[in-house]
Amino acid sequence: MSKANSMPNKLIIGNWKMNTSLADAIVLASGVRDQAEHMEKVEIVLCPPCIWLTELVHLGISPRTLPHLKLGAQNMHFEDRGAFTGEISPIMVKEVAEYVILGHSERTHILKENPELISNKLQSALDHGLTPILCLGEDRHGQEGWQRHLVQTLNYLIRGLSPEELRKMVLAYEPVWAIGSGNPARPDYVQEVVEALRSVLDPETRVLYGGSVDEKNARSYLELPNIDGLLVGGASIKLKTFLTICQIADDLSFK
Ligand code: PGA
Repeated sequence: MSKANSMPNKLIIGNWKMNTSLADAIVLASGVRDQAEHMEKVEIVLCPPCIWLTELVHLGISPRTLPHLKLGAQNMHFEDRGAFTGEISPIMVKEVAEYVILGHSERTHILKENPELISNKLQSALDHGLTPILCLGEDRHGQEGWQRHLVQTLNYLIRGLSPEELRKMVLAYEPVWAIGSGNPARPDYVQEVVEALRSVLDPETRVLYGGSVDEKNARSYLELPNIDGLLVGGASIKLKTFLTICQIADDLSFK
């Protein structure tokens, strides 16, 4: 049985990517904070550009203020400190956030991050008590053996993790062709691929779907028996839309 059945509180991650001015970030985060007070079952994680993280902590976006509203970074280096110009370390992330997105396709495709680097980051995040959101998805579907290849890639990324570490991480299944395309994957397709990916995870690992999620299709994924939540990109920087998605997830949570 998947965690989606055994621990049914949903997880909604907002990945703001490289968007928002400081003023926009404050308006957006305050809006989420004010409504999140009335949604106590869903867990909400905002991942703004890292330069705004501290500002958002000061706004009360922190489990110290609301236990179910948290912050995440969009990336980090695996080393603790040193001569890595432009990077942020897990120790720095840990001071202001609980989660970190790793291996997003925009980093693998545009910034050429490779699986070895991503698996080092994954281990480092876990070693520092951060919750990694590991992103994984196929570039194209339909090619011979693509699903097997995806499972093999996941196996490589998580090699060496203990069952306890597997339970702590979050996997975001994000078909690359669905990200930012307005062409989301069909729920039955997501269910089938996630079932294959779950075969190498711990039954309690939380698995999310991401890729052109909006307020109209969110429910169709959140109702899937093997999906624990959503990784939302474009729709997470529209306050009303994001809050609608969070509300749907709250209604479907039973904690
Ligand atoms: P999207 O992005 O919701 O805009 O498709 C999802 C993501 O990149 O995580």
